[in-house]
Amino acid sequence: MLIIAHRGASGLAPENTLAAMEKALELGASAIELDVHRVEDQLVVIHDRWLQRHTDGHGLVHHSTLAALANLDAGQGQRVPTLWQVLECIDGRCDLNIELKGRNTNQPLIELLSQAQLQLGYQPQQFLISSFNHPKLMRLKQLQPDLKIGALTASCPLDYARFAEELGAYSVHIDVNFAEPEFIADAKRRGLKVFVYTVDEPEDMLELQRQGVDGVFSNLPDQARATLGSH
Ligand code: G3P
Ligand code: CA
Repeated sequence: MLIIAHRGASGLAPENTLAAMEKALELGASAIELDVHRVEDQLVVIHDRWLQRHTDGHGLVHHSTLAALANLDAGQGQRVPTLWQVLECIDGRCDLNIELKGRNTNQPLIELLSQAQLQLGYQPQQFLISSFNHPKLMRLKQLQPDLKIGALTASCPLDYARFAEELGAYSVHIDVNFAEPEFIADAKRRGLKVFVYTVDEPEDMLELQRQGVDGVFSNLPDQARATLGSH
């Protein structure tokens, strides 16, 4: 079962920062999930639309500038990194799930992934792109048919697995509160991987493993490794 460090090892370092990425790698996460918004012509790694929960700044992320962001404290002296900085930091050492948030992210993403393959040696299959914004995923898939995409949902609409299959998704990413055995079985029958977020309780991890899910997003990848590694 894949252990995907959620926002990096965000239970142990400020979320979505380079420190959280380094920590996740050190703890042996199979993959790292992170959230991106567009600022100017680049993607930056931050979860919220607003700056105030994560940083000492204020206002909407997409109204900010790269220069202004570079001066903010994202916790413990960490900065809000660009996606390129994260790609350089990880340097191909694990797989990445990039969750697209905010507006106009497809074009900079496509350019960046191609640059990461050419300059940093990433393999295309190391990238899994997810979003709650399904029309955006659909457009991305049309632009880059070979890209792995993950259909992300905060609930679990009827026939969601069929929808994801029709979207050409590689995986479905579902909330732990909606991880019903029937849904998991249906998704797997359709050849989809099932990844569940956010799972920090060992009992949940073991139950999901019994149900055959393919991976969990956890803020505590070390605890997930300790729980799942021995079962
Ligand atoms: O990708 C799984 C999970 O991160 C989705 O929810 O709000 O934590 O980005 P959120
Ligand atoms: Ca996320």
